[in-house]
Amino acid sequence: MKAANIEAKAVTYNRITKEILAVLEGETNDIARMATISCLLHEAFASRIWTGFYILDPEKPDELVVGPYQGTLGCLRIPFGKGVCGVAAETQATQVVDDVHTFPGHIACDGRSVSEIVVPVRSKSGELIAVLDIDSDRAAMFDETDKAALEQLIAVVFS
Ligand code: SME
Repeated sequence: MKAANIEAKAVTYNRITKEILAVLEGETNDIARMATISCLLHEAFASRIWTGFYILDPEKPDELVVGPYQGTLGCLRIPFGKGVCGVAAETQATQVVDDVHTFPGHIACDGRSVSEIVVPVRSKSGELIAVLDIDSDRAAMFDETDKAALEQLIAVVFS
């Protein structure tokens, strides 16, 4: 990617992070936070087909269940350790995947999905509560700029 595009992406993250924090000022409900983040992040970038959260299900601790999202229909449940979201939840580490077709066990909710980033979401007490999943229909759309910006946003809002 050209340097100008990288700069543009960082500038967009900076603007959208400020907007999200302004909207969420004083809001403590996690669903409201997730819905707002999904909407504003999804609207801010072209070429994203899905932006949303998979939440730890208290009734089924070995599964993630779909939470607030924007985009095409998402799978309802993802087992821990399965697909990009399941691996992010199990390892509690951000996953950046240039081409999901090369990712073992990838779950294709939308066949157009090509690249993906999944960021773990931890509560104030440090417990994993969800993952933020963003999918694109283009290859290699996510990099260190996305990882740094999204990890920071998630930490500021939820931790
Ligand atoms: N691609 C994800 C599944 C969720 S959706 O794409 C909305 C994965 O493999 O974890």
